[in-house]
Amino acid sequence: SAAEKGGFKHFMIKEIYETPEAVESALVGRFDEHGRPTLYELDEFNLERIKRILLVACGTSYHAGLVFKYFAEKYLDIDVLIDVASEFRYRPIRVDDETITIAISQSGETADTLESVRAVKKAGGKVIAIANVVGSTITRESDVTLFMNAGPEIGVAASKTYVNQLVVLYTLGMYMARKKGVWNEQLSSVSKELMNMPKILKYVLQNQEIERMAEYYKNYHHFMYIGRGINTATAMEGALKLKEISYINAVAYPAGELKHGPIALLDPTFPVFAIVPNDSLYEKMRSNIEESRARNARILSVATEGDEEIKRISHDVIYVPKVHEDLYPLVMAPVIQLFAYHIADKRGYDPDKPRNLAKSVTVE
Ligand code: G6P
Repeated sequence: SAAEKGGFKHFMIKEIYETPEAVESALVGRFDEHGRPTLYELDEFNLERIKRILLVACGTSYHAGLVFKYFAEKYLDIDVLIDVASEFRYRPIRVDDETITIAISQSGETADTLESVRAVKKAGGKVIAIANVVGSTITRESDVTLFMNAGPEIGVAASKTYVNQLVVLYTLGMYMARKKGVWNEQLSSVSKELMNMPKILKYVLQNQEIERMAEYYKNYHHFMYIGRGINTATAMEGALKLKEISYINAVAYPAGELKHGPIALLDPTFPVFAIVPNDSLYEKMRSNIEESRARNARILSVATEGDEEIKRISHDVIYVPKVHEDLYPLVMAPVIQLFAYHIADKRGYDPDKPRNLAKSVTVE
């Protein structure tokens, strides 16, 4: 009913707008007075010795894991091996004292992810679960659970829970940095900015340009999402959202890979959705945008406020506020979600119940 949706047309849009308070709940109680992460539930796991992380998840949770891989490898001097659960569980699993597994699942009931947890346990490994649903199977079968605290999510396509997964994963990465004695000034500013995220996200959610862009682009049949580094995951999640609820064919590539094949697809009917924040890979993204433009593709860029140069090389721009370069996946998330939501809605589809999809996939 309309009342359940708090005046919103769909659960998905209501849940997207709940993101700032969801993030607040993910942060509360997890930092000390100096802004350093304290995940007491992990203290007994001696994470300082970890040199390898196995990361397993499906769908949107997998994309959150990909963000963690970039973040953790940048600061922690470890390897993060990530795979989708439906592949992970059938591959050989090697664990030792320096390895820990992280399994991410909003519902805590995804069959392939649960089977992956069981396989790791059977091999003698330890599992940290990241889950939203309290009492779900994954929380009972893993060694410890970090809860997302996002509140219930009814829309089938994950939205606020993706952002909360990211918040918990950034927190975990920073906690491990402390344990390993590699906490530094950079992480200190990441942590400060993470505290401000509820406010920053509220601001992002006010951006009316996203819906205007959805109106403009809603009738295209294809999209090419590109990003680099940590925002490769943003591109992949953006394409997944669009496929899931608007049934538009969207592909995602790390932008440097375009020239190895996908650029052949580009023409005026095949727009490029470019994730191009002001980070250390900006110049590389810029040349990928120019290459795409040379094939006459229409370019919609999501860029950092104040970047005037991007306007010159793109047809359209959606701006997000400047944040620490590691944290762009957080401010980009509502943009890709709202873009997909509004396109689905404007095309007359119900984003809460996309065809052929289930909120949690309990079959293999
Ligand atoms: C389903 C949902 C996706 C979700 C995926 C993993 O496919 O439609 O939105 O990302 O499952 O779900 P989980 O609950 O394990 O995070």
